[in-house]
Amino acid sequence: MNNNIDEYAVFGYPINHSLSPYIHAAFAKQTGQSINYQAIEVKPENFTQAVKDFFNSGGKGINCTVPLKEMAFDEVDVLSERAKFSGAVNTIKLMENGDLFGDNTDGVGLLKDLMDNLELSLAGKRILVLGAGGAARGILGPLLNSAPSSLCLVNRTESKAQALKSIFEPIGEINVSTFNNLTGSTFDLIINATSASLSANLPPLPSQILAEGGVCYDLAYSKHATAFMTWGLKEGAVTSVDGLGMLVEQAAQAFYVWRNVMPDTINVRRELAKN
Ligand code: ATR
Repeated sequence: MNNNIDEYAVFGYPINHSLSPYIHAAFAKQTGQSINYQAIEVKPENFTQAVKDFFNSGGKGINCTVPLKEMAFDEVDVLSERAKFSGAVNTIKLMENGDLFGDNTDGVGLLKDLMDNLELSLAGKRILVLGAGGAARGILGPLLNSAPSSLCLVNRTESKAQALKSIFEPIGEINVSTFNNLTGSTFDLIINATSASLSANLPPLPSQILAEGGVCYDLAYSKHATAFMTWGLKEGAVTSVDGLGMLVEQAAQAFYVWRNVMPDTINVRRELAKN
């Protein structure tokens, strides 16, 4: 590794389509920070060793993506409060005393995109979150903290949604529902945190649950509209977007954790949206 340039990386499996090296290179250029950031494919069974090797050879920080975020949670020495609640770590930082600090910037990244970029106020809004896996867990804390009038969580496997309800009880109330029982309710914001988009599937959503002027947000991002984004437009959403903005915002927050400098995200987001 080059001694003058601080080394960072994103670990994931698979990792070949990661946009993170582009995003962090753009942040570094914009802020004049001297960093190198690469994408490294790491299989779950090699994760612990890969983390050790990376830091032993002088690395300063790692982003972790699917399916390694939960493993990263167990790997670090110190956790941020938001990482504790989300049960997952997407940002590891080597601290001066040699300890590894684990943070999770996904939830705050989503909030930044919703509030700053889409100019959506969440206070007093009825929010529905679809899915109760790792992606949902990463965003529930910041959503509850944004003072919605209600937050409903729906999952095919209801027990997983009930488990998240208990975990987040100290932050705020979550109403658990099944897909069938959604009929008759309306929501101002529906967030798809299931992995359905990755296999081009749509969660079993009833029609007419999106309020007038409602917004649909898919945490997944893709070159083409996801099935959920298309569903949102058909249901009359004023905005129906994918998670590209969240990806850039969570990266900016990770950059800040590492470098103590907050990059501007707007141009990076615009460039990525063009491709
Ligand atoms: P991630 O880390 O991306 O959240 P995960 O922990 O495997 O991945 O969770 C995937 C989530 O997507 C789960 O909530 C899953 O529902 P179940 O718990 O009932 O399996 C949800 N999911 C995946 N495919 C889905 C589909 N086609 N319709 C509805 N929910 C789906």
